[in-house]
Amino acid sequence: MKLEEFWNNPIEAYLKAERYVNNGSRSGIKNTTSLETSPLSSIDEFELYSIESDDLICIGQDEEFVFPSKYVLIHPDLVESELLLSYKGCISRTNIKVSPTASGRTTYCSAYGCFIKLAYFEILGRIPRHLGLEILQSAFEVTNNLKSLIDAGVCNSSFAILREDKGLLTKLNLSDSETYELGVIFREGKPYPSIQEYFAMVPFFSLFSKELKPDSNWELCEYQDEPLIVQLFLQQSEFSTISDFTLNKILKPLFHTYFDSLLLGGIELEAHAQNMLISISRNFEVKQIVCRDLESAGRDISLMQERNIFFNDIAKSYKYIKKTIPESGEKYSTYQRTHSFMFDFKLGEYIVTPLIDCICNFDPTVNRDFLVSEIKLFNRDFIEQFPSDYFPVQWCDYDDVVWGNSVKKKYNWYDNPKYR
Ligand SMILES: Nc1ncnc2c1ncn2[C@@H]1O[C@H](COP(=O)(O)OP(=O)(O)OP(=O)(O)O)[C@@H](O)[C@H]1O
Ligand SMILES: [Mg+2]
Repeated sequence: MKLEEFWNNPIEAYLKAERYVNNGSRSGIKNTTSLETSPLSSIDEFELYSIESDDLICIGQDEEFVFPSKYVLIHPDLVESELLLSYKGCISRTNIKVSPTASGRTTYCSAYGCFIKLAYFEILGRIPRHLGLEILQSAFEVTNNLKSLIDAGVCNSSFAILREDKGLLTKLNLSDSETYELGVIFREGKPYPSIQEYFAMVPFFSLFSKELKPDSNWELCEYQDEPLIVQLFLQQSEFSTISDFTLNKILKPLFHTYFDSLLLGGIELEAHAQNMLISISRNFEVKQIVCRDLESAGRDISLMQERNIFFNDIAKSYKYIKKTIPESGEKYSTYQRTHSFMFDFKLGEYIVTPLIDCICNFDPTVNRDFLVSEIKLFNRDFIEQFPSDYFPVQWCDYDDVVWGNSVKKKYNWYDNPKYR
């Protein structure tokens, strides 16, 4: 994909990067939606369905934001699903058209200029999906927490989010004794804060990925342009090496954003390559690090209490993280493990390592050891602000397997965290 494509039509180019410039999740697990609606299909848009209900719960009604629907919107794949077969209410086709993004269940609606994150019942990626009330409440809470930091002007200047503080939910009566919470989240289409130079968003994974053939099974296009990170670098007049550019304009702001969210807001982002984006100006300057999927961010309640950060004590069974002691036979507590998992594995292995690999591949003179030592030096100032046992001495990942709801995850531990 050519970077110049953004000039012609920034939204179209953004959607192309989302759908077709993607090596896929680091895990190699590729479960997604049906063929026609999947990110890799060649179909531009598909229509959503809606479920009518009388007991609609509305989150974050906002005068500035027009809800695309009065009813809960659902993905076409759900219409024939087993769960909805027993539903007696009315399901109708709407004229709301959307395009898929890399996460099959999140779609972009150009008519409203917003993202619509839909409920999905099946496995996408490695886990079964669900959008229930606590998940919507958590997205609302995390958005408002981070928004208040931005409004107070305390974050680094690149810090940005895609607000995710509006949604609808219904409790479906499936039988006399069984109900199911079915939600939809409306995510804003442009970064907050809004800045004058904003031109387009580019997902992190597309910076270092190859381009895929539409309608294929992850088949690469025969002709490949240079990776977008390389093309971006070639547009910079301020930097003479790709290593300096990537370190100063992407990696440092990325780490700074991760730590601002955690240290100032107590919010632990799931900062993998699909959840983070950059925003660029018309002349291809990197302006913002944009965090999305705020529903999946953890609220570190213990850290908030220690650092006197205000929080609403809600949605306590979802991503509500508190200090724990190690379970018997475990080296580290779940609390410590989560901190390594999100920083070392999700941020480190999904974004930082492939980005460094990519620039080293383009320019073999990049001094990788020096780059990594600069990253560690930069991160040290932040790490020192946490309680000394916040991060474990080692770092962890888990195996590339699909996790059912009841499977206990097995973590692997390694010495020498790469980026701290
Ligand atoms: N390069 C990639 N890295 C990680 N995940 C990817 C990538 N490309 C596609 N995916 C898919 O994106 C989804 C990531 O899961 P995650 O829970 O972060 O997102 P989501 O909640 O479905 O959507 P959103 O990020 O829009 O809120 C998975 O379904 C995964 O298979
Ligand atoms: Mg995501």
